[in-house]
Amino acid sequence: MPARTEKTLEDLFHDGLKDIYYAERQLLKALPKLAKGAESPDLKAAFEKHRDETEGHVERLQQVFEIFGKRAQGKTCPAIDGIVEEGQEIMEEFKGSKALDAGLISAGQAAEHYEITRYGTLKRWAQELGMADAAKLLDQTLAEEVKTDQALTQLAETAANRKAA
Ligand SMILES: [Fe+2]
Ligand SMILES: [Fe+2]
Repeated sequence: MPARTEKTLEDLFHDGLKDIYYAERQLLKALPKLAKGAESPDLKAAFEKHRDETEGHVERLQQVFEIFGKRAQGKTCPAIDGIVEEGQEIMEEFKGSKALDAGLISAGQAAEHYEITRYGTLKRWAQELGMADAAKLLDQTLAEEVKTDQALTQLAETAANRKAA
C-alpha cells in the first residue's frame, strides 16, 4: 500500500530539528537543577559550564532553522522528558547519600548521549541536503556534547564512583 503522503529527507530533518530544539530547552532548565543537586564543586562547575554552552546550542539551532528557511519551533520529545525525569528521581532518591554524584553524572551522560546521537544524524542529513553551513553549526554543538560527556566520565572515574563504592 502506498504511503498517504510522500515524506522526504527534508521532513525528517525538520522533525529532528524540532525534537532537539525542544530537548535543548528542557536541558536549559534541567542543568541548573543538576548543578544545585551535585555535592562536588567540580561536578557543580561542570553542569554550570554546560548550561552556558547549552544557551549557545539553542542559538545555533535558531541559525540552522533560519538556513533551512523555517521558523524555530520545538516539538515535545518524550525521550528527553524521560531522561530528565530519571535524573530528577535519582536526585530525590539519592539525596544525602554518598552515591548521589555518581547518579547525577549518569543522568547527565544519558542526556549527552541522546544529544550526540541526534546531532550526529542531523549533521549528516544537513550535508546530504547541501546545507554545509548548517552542518558546520551542528558539528560545533556535537563537539561540545562529546567534550562534556568526556568531562563527566573523567569526574566519575576520578571521584564520584570511588566515593559511592
Ligand atoms: Fe546541547
Ligand atoms: Fe549537552
